[in-house]
Amino acid sequence: MANLKITILHDVWEEGPPEPEPEPVKAPRGKSGKRSRKKKDPLHDREEIFEALTKLGHEPSYYVLDGKNQSLLALAKCGADLVFNLTESYAGDDTMDKNIASFLELLHLPYTGSGPQALYLAQDKSIAKKIFDFHKIKTPDFAVSYKGRTDHSHDIEFPLIVKPVSEDGSIGIDAGSLVDSVKELMERIHYIHEEFDSPALIEEYIEGREIYASIFGNENPEVLPLIELDLSKLPRGTPRIACQDVKFDHETEAYKVTKSAPAEDLDDDTTKKLQDTGLAAWRALGLRDYGRIDMRLNKKGEVYVIEANPNPWLSSVAEFTMAAKKAGYSYTDVIEKLVGLAQARSL
Ligand SMILES: Nc1ncnc2c1ncn2[C@@H]1O[C@H](COP(=O)(O)OP(=O)(O)O)[C@@H](O)[C@H]1O
Ligand SMILES: [Mg+2]
Repeated sequence: MANLKITILHDVWEEGPPEPEPEPVKAPRGKSGKRSRKKKDPLHDREEIFEALTKLGHEPSYYVLDGKNQSLLALAKCGADLVFNLTESYAGDDTMDKNIASFLELLHLPYTGSGPQALYLAQDKSIAKKIFDFHKIKTPDFAVSYKGRTDHSHDIEFPLIVKPVSEDGSIGIDAGSLVDSVKELMERIHYIHEEFDSPALIEEYIEGREIYASIFGNENPEVLPLIELDLSKLPRGTPRIACQDVKFDHETEAYKVTKSAPAEDLDDDTTKKLQDTGLAAWRALGLRDYGRIDMRLNKKGEVYVIEANPNPWLSSVAEFTMAAKKAGYSYTDVIEKLVGLAQARSL
């Protein structure tokens, strides 16, 4: 692959940018100004990507979209051959990732990962679930409610989990998300409205194992070995869900006792069912290059799609990378393939 000028494009949710950059703005929360997002793992994937790109003989640089027009306009003139797109938000609004992808399209700048359509469909979990339903992909029955208005409702049964309809990183998901009574349900819906100014997605809770299917490539997308997030060792009385503590809070008991690892004890039929379901969800939403489909497997062997993640976290310890390693890709191989997939679109 020819030597390319590659810009690692990222936003400013996280602190401590790796290079001198424009003063980051304090990220406001979209419409309501409210937000309780925590910092991500301090191990930035962008630094590892930078290193891998250098190893591959490319010329990487960082570019931060700080939510100001100037950084957006300057991007048009950045002179990169390709953008490694790590953005998840714009000006603190994480529904805006699709707009960044659209902007890159308008600039004819090839970029890694999913396009605006898939980013939009996956971001709004209620839309994604309606599409899964159409394609007969099992997903928990659900209702969507916003300040007294019900957008849709199956005849759902407790226990239920209540989450913001379009957040990720387990924002708004904690022990209180799992509700067992009308009182708890109403309180939680109120909390989601107040805290996130977002419709509440109320889903049937699927007791079971948490399995991730990572998918890589486009023409013949490869379903990488399945990864399980083992939640069985969470302290007694804690719901078995991947809340923020589990994902990011290194100091917590919940973080320390939960581990992701290849799910090796699954029989062939179950493995195939999980892989096929993951791929069906990927195709239904039109994901591209790399993605991770989060699923639950219950005792009866039924597989439910919880959500689809375009452009998942790419750190060397992330589930996607773990799955790729299990399939024989080194970290550098993963980055090389992603660059190749993006570049192929511009040829
Ligand atoms: N319907 C559900 N049944 C069981 N667990 C769920 C359900 N929905 C969410 N969870 C738990 O909550 C976690 C986060 O939910 P998810 O919808 O994936 O949010 P995020 O987009 O923030 O990752 C999941 O990984 C899972 O552990
Ligand atoms: Mg998830």
